Amino acid sequence: MATEILRIAGGRPLHGLVSVEGAKNAALPACVASLLTDEPVTLQRIPELRDVSTILFALSDLGKRVVRRATSVVLGSDRDLSCEANAYAVRQMRASFLVLAPLVARLGRAVVPLPGGCAIGNRSVDLHLDGLRAMGATIEEQGGIVRVTASRLRGARIQLRFPSVGATEQLLMASVLAAGESEISRASVEPEVLDLVELLRHMGAKIERESDTFHIEGVDELHGATHEVIPDRMEAGTYLLAGAITEGEVRVEEAVREPLGSFVAALEGSGLSVVSDERSFGVRGKPWRSIEVETAPHPGFPTDLHPQLASFLALAQGVSRIRETIFERRHTYVAGLRSLGAMLAVDQKTVTISGVGRLSGGRLSAPDIRSGAALVLAALAAQGESVIDGLDKLDRGYAHIVAKLRGVGAEVERETA
Ligand code: EPZ
Repeated sequence: MATEILRIAGGRPLHGLVSVEGAKNAALPACVASLLTDEPVTLQRIPELRDVSTILFALSDLGKRVVRRATSVVLGSDRDLSCEANAYAVRQMRASFLVLAPLVARLGRAVVPLPGGCAIGNRSVDLHLDGLRAMGATIEEQGGIVRVTASRLRGARIQLRFPSVGATEQLLMASVLAAGESEISRASVEPEVLDLVELLRHMGAKIERESDTFHIEGVDELHGATHEVIPDRMEAGTYLLAGAITEGEVRVEEAVREPLGSFVAALEGSGLSVVSDERSFGVRGKPWRSIEVETAPHPGFPTDLHPQLASFLALAQGVSRIRETIFERRHTYVAGLRSLGAMLAVDQKTVTISGVGRLSGGRLSAPDIRSGAALVLAALAAQGESVIDGLDKLDRGYAHIVAKLRGVGAEVERETA
C-alpha cells in the first residue's frame, strides 16, 4: 500500500490562531456512554479522527444507530444491544475496552477482548477488572477475551491503586446503573474524565465529587442528552509549542489555558512569556532556559505533552530533564530527535536533553500519536527539509494537521510516497 508522508521545510516562524478540535480523550468515553441508554445522545465538537471512527464502528456493531455529520454525532438505538464487542475495534484501540461496563450494566453480560499493548507500554486493565469484581461481576479471562457477567452490578467502595483515567471512566459507567451507592477514591480527575461526569449527569446519573473521590448513587435508567465535549488541550499544547519552537507565536482558544496550567507554567519556567487577549493566548520568547519536569496525573504535567516538550527543550540552553511517571515507553521520540541532531540520553524513567544550537532536517517515522507530534515540531524548527511517515498514527490524534500548520505559515505538504 502506498505510504503517505509529510514533507516539511523547516526554519520558518509560525504565526496565527489555530482552531482546536474537541478532545479525543473526552469524545471517546462520551461516545461509549451512549450505551447506557436507548434514548438518543447527541454529542458535539467530536473530532474527525480515526480513533473516533473506530469507536463509532464498535458502537454500531453493538447495535447503536450512529449518525455522524462533521463534528456532530447522534447515537440512538434501532435494535437490541449485542453483548459481544468487536475484536478488531478493541484490539485496534484501547479506549474501546470501555464498552465493557455499560454492556454489563445494561445486559448483565459482556464479552470483550483484552486491549492489545501499544507503542507506549503494556497498559494492563487490572484496575478495570478488579473494580468490576468489587461490584459483583464474575470475570473469566481466556485466550485474550474477558467474559463478564453480573445479574445486576451493586455499588461498592473502590480505592484505585493510582488515578488511572480509563479505570475511573470504566467504573463510573459501571456504577451509575448499579444497585446502591458507590465510592471511587484516588480516581483520575483529568478534565476529560470530569467532562464524562458532566455528560453522565446530563443523562440523569447521580454523581458527586470531593477532590479525587466520586460518590455515585445508582439509578434504574438513564435518558438521552446533548453534550459538547471540551477542547483538546493536548492538541492545543502541541500547536502552542509549534509557535514557540519556530520563534513565532501560535495562539489557541483561552478555554484550554486553565487545564494546561502546569504545561504553561513549565514553558514560562523555560523563559517563554504568555501573550493573550480575552479570546486566545500564545507563548513566545527567547532564549529558552533548561528546565526539569516530571509528568503526573492532572493537575501535574500531562504525559501526552512530554514528547512535544522534549522537542522544544532540544533547542533550549543547557541540560533539561523530563521524568516520565505514567508510561514505561513514552520516550519513543528519542531516536527521531537524535537523527535531527538533538542530544538526548534515556535512563530508566528520565530523559536528559542537552540543548543544541540547531536541528537539521531528516527522514523521520512517527512511532505513536504524541511522539509523531514531537517529530513534526522538531521538523518545523529544523533547518532544511524533513520527511515524516507513519501518518496513520499522527491521524489518530491530530485532525486537519496540514491545513492547520499551513494556516499559520508552515511549508508542509502531504504526499503519497
Ligand atoms: C488515557 O489512557 C489516555 N487515553 C492517554 O492518552 C493518556 O496518556 C493516559 O490516559 C494518561 O493520561 C484516553 O483517554 C483514550 P491510564 P489510559 O489508565 O486510560 C497503567 C493519547 O495519546 N494501567 O491512566 O490507558 C497503564 O499500563 C493517549 O491520547 C494499569 O496498570 O491511561 C499505563 O501505564 C495515550 N492498570 C498507566 O496505568 C489499569 O487497569 C496509565 O494508564 C489501567 C492502567
